[in-house]
Amino acid sequence: PHVITSRCVGTKDQSCVEVCPVDCIHPASDIDGPEAFAASPQLYIDPEVCIDCGACVPVCPVEAIFYMDEVPPEEEASIEENRRFYHA
Ligand code: SF4
Ligand code: F3S
Repeated sequence: PHVITSRCVGTKDQSCVEVCPVDCIHPASDIDGPEAFAASPQLYIDPEVCIDCGACVPVCPVEAIFYMDEVPPEEEASIEENRRFYHA
């Protein structure tokens, strides 16, 4: 799957949400709405729903999204973090 790294923190642009064809990008796993968005430091991709279409990658203004095998070393914790949000 694709992964949102900590580069999303502080921006949360949400362009990625609009282009995802399978709606697998959310601020939190089981809650939604403005409260969840405000409380979430960044957005996360559900690794079991992502179909690796790649549409979200170019629309992110801070280049926060990577295919999991291409996540920069300093952002590797993001892989588990995205999964934990949906499948803790
Ligand atoms: Fe959604 Fe495609 Fe990005 Fe996966 S790669 S999160 S399916 S837009
Ligand atoms: Fe974050 Fe980029 Fe999406 S800043 S919310 S990953 S468009």
